[in-house]
Amino acid sequence: MISRRSVLLGSAAMAGSVLFGRPGSAPAFTRPLPPTAPVGAESVVSLQLRAAERQLSLPCFNGKSLPLWTFTDAAQPPVVRVKLGQRLNTHLVNGLTRPGEHVSIHWHGIRLPNDQDGVPYLVQPPVEPGESYDYSFVPPDTGTFFFHTHCNSAEQLGRGLIGILIVEGDAPEPYDADELVVLKDWRIDEAGTGFLPFLTQEGAGKAGTFGTVRSVNGAILPDITLPASADVRLRIVNVDPTRLTEIGIEGAEAAVVAIDGIACPPFPLRSWRMGPAMRADLIVRTPADGGTATLVDYFAAKPVPLAHLVAQGPARRKGPFDPAPLAAGRIPAPDLANATRFPITFSATATGAAVADLVADGAPLGPLCLSESNLWAINKASWPSDMHQIPPPMATLERGKTYIFELRNVTPHMHPIHLHGHSFSVLKSNRRDLPEHHADTVLLLPKERMEIAFVADNPGKWMLHCHIIEHQETGMMAWFEVA
Ligand code: C2O
Ligand code: CU
Repeated sequence: MISRRSVLLGSAAMAGSVLFGRPGSAPAFTRPLPPTAPVGAESVVSLQLRAAERQLSLPCFNGKSLPLWTFTDAAQPPVVRVKLGQRLNTHLVNGLTRPGEHVSIHWHGIRLPNDQDGVPYLVQPPVEPGESYDYSFVPPDTGTFFFHTHCNSAEQLGRGLIGILIVEGDAPEPYDADELVVLKDWRIDEAGTGFLPFLTQEGAGKAGTFGTVRSVNGAILPDITLPASADVRLRIVNVDPTRLTEIGIEGAEAAVVAIDGIACPPFPLRSWRMGPAMRADLIVRTPADGGTATLVDYFAAKPVPLAHLVAQGPARRKGPFDPAPLAAGRIPAPDLANATRFPITFSATATGAAVADLVADGAPLGPLCLSESNLWAINKASWPSDMHQIPPPMATLERGKTYIFELRNVTPHMHPIHLHGHSFSVLKSNRRDLPEHHADTVLLLPKERMEIAFVADNPGKWMLHCHIIEHQETGMMAWFEVA
């Protein structure tokens, strides 16, 4: 498997490589994916979640506390671990008190039955303050996933209504450590005790509204202590509603072994762009005892250090870095020879284009009411601003058939496009050489065309939307039916 960085990487990223003297090419790994992991006996894991406002502090809040909205009493998102084959039963209580602030849980990337998918109005009723709701499903795939509410998402995700879901059983050869790395920004006001608006007209019409404080596992540039000279697994999860991070590791060799939870043939990590909701599992060969490597973001004028990986203790591994692959995924192979093609265009609406121009000119924005303006569209249709008005489906797909979605971004912005209920194969892009992989969220670069393929094997009503939440909430959202 050969990995090549995009031929169209930003100059910042290229400058980063030069700055840190990274090699121009790295050896490919050759170990094939082991067969799919065996499914364990069904047993039940129970989870209690209570969405509520809680005044909590994280290391990145600079000693202050903030009115977070969380699922548990902890400021950090809950980390739920189940084994492949186990059923996850969740009791969700909405303890939020703002009138009308309903919630639901979307289990992002999990190929579950449609009525468990957590999209209010489309597949379940909204869970109003004081109400509760139960979810029950057996995740069919191992890997790194997350969950979040699917209502008023810019604010609810912005305040912290997220959790991590790990489905275990995909590592036939154990790694020396397994660490989560959760990337999230916070929109903190000047006093440091409240939040700035989560959705702005300027942001929604362009790349989104960014947080003011970047955090990794709730801290600014934390030290993550790891065994030395070891092969450690880092599960990188971008839960930010807005920010794209182009991850890389300085000072250690690293490989990507899974994308969006699903194993891929390992390829050397030079850098990998992760839009909101995207996950990547890395294996890093840590430095010798006392050494430090750095997780960096290359998507900036100068690479931004995100976390220090501090190596401690006796060496665990000798010999060249050749990371153990994860067990192959269980995603049905698309039948490309008999696939039906379906073009999907992501565009700005006339209003959206006008807003972007106004912002570019520095002109003051008029009294445009965001709730009335749809800035983005999918195949020329904008999702109505009123979430509970469900528009007609974009398409009805025949159950069991293979579809190739021809994604086409005609905007000058990036869009991480997420498909509910299915993992797809990323086939090709007109702008990049992409490694072979599956995904549930794929990043469309400006003007990029990309083909993805999947078997429409999961009946129901499924969303397709941009995961820059402000784009989603201002129109870049649609749904299709599998029947
Ligand atoms: Cu993680 Cu509909 O989204
Ligand atoms: Cu978008």
